[in-house]
Amino acid sequence: MTTTAKILSIDTSCDETSCSVTADTTVLSNVIWSQASLHAKWGGVYPSSARRAHREHIDYVVKNALLKAHITPDGLDAIAVTQGPGLAISLEVGIEKAKNLATTLKLPLIPINHVEGHLLSPLAQNKKIPFPALGFVASGGTTAIILAKKIGDYKVLAKTGDDALGEALDKGARMLGLGYPGGAILEGIAKEGNPASYSLPVPMAGREKELSFSYSGIKTAMWRLVESQKPLTKEKIHNLAASYQDRVFKHVENLVAFALSQNPTPSFLFGGGVSSNLELRKRIRKICHRTGTVLYLPYSKKLCTDNAAMIGVAAYFKFKKKEYLRGKEMEKIERLPRWKIDLPAQLI
Ligand code: KG4
Repeated sequence: MTTTAKILSIDTSCDETSCSVTADTTVLSNVIWSQASLHAKWGGVYPSSARRAHREHIDYVVKNALLKAHITPDGLDAIAVTQGPGLAISLEVGIEKAKNLATTLKLPLIPINHVEGHLLSPLAQNKKIPFPALGFVASGGTTAIILAKKIGDYKVLAKTGDDALGEALDKGARMLGLGYPGGAILEGIAKEGNPASYSLPVPMAGREKELSFSYSGIKTAMWRLVESQKPLTKEKIHNLAASYQDRVFKHVENLVAFALSQNPTPSFLFGGGVSSNLELRKRIRKICHRTGTVLYLPYSKKLCTDNAAMIGVAAYFKFKKKEYLRGKEMEKIERLPRWKIDLPAQLI
């Protein structure tokens, strides 16, 4: 007889308060309270407001995740929570709630790395994926190419030396007077423009062997270009958006192609907020096609940006191996704002 593991998971790593219930890797509910509108006026996340908003909404998302999954707390097998990386004072809110729930309900607690959640998000809904796999996680805080020999065994092959990809897209959008977060808006505007209209450099072109992302140079070049084009017309904004997004993505393509050539794997996982971008999906799919690699994406856009269901998916694999904490062991859990996916929590 096979039994399913029902796990309630919490993610408060940045500016989304989220709670989910998963049954193995099937998502029963995935409730997200987004703070985007709260932070829009700052053009970025304002930490103390983020913590306050998490505190205000945590009980709401937990209650609704249970309701939507048609489950009562006594039907749960474990509680999972994002331990890091993320904003320290945001992480604390979710960890405290998860500890309380696990203690009250006498359930095991599974601490999860947020980047592992993004990496494994394509496995939701029982997707069977052959390993080893190469993964690309691109969000507002992370840009990394990761070699996953198997679930739980990771090596970061390339990461950013400065801005994350999502952050670079958000900043480009801001220069053009578009809203926050700007990645998705920039995607829409770029579709209307011609990427060849303006000359902008492809970051680190020809230096793929260094396996490093860098967006500070192109950001400065874009800022100068935008200033030189003022006053901006609608047509200029479309062309600037298309040119910027194109070069920012070419940098990704170059590194992904290089990493795949050095580490041919049957599967490629793409997760994180930027994985909802259709243009980047198309470009990565093309590279995978050339190398006979299958591209796996989260089944819904809700699983791309920050959410608790991906934490539930990652937690399921730990639950199976009994990698969890019980009783007094839970007191050890503290937020790990800089937790690297390829380092065990104890070594941070
Ligand atoms: O994964 P996520 O919600 O948060 C972090 O863990 O940081 O990712 C947020 C990032 C933002 O930078 C946002 O602009 C970007 O993902 N993003 C997109 C798209 N949707 C969200 N970037 C490009 N195209 C999109 N469609």
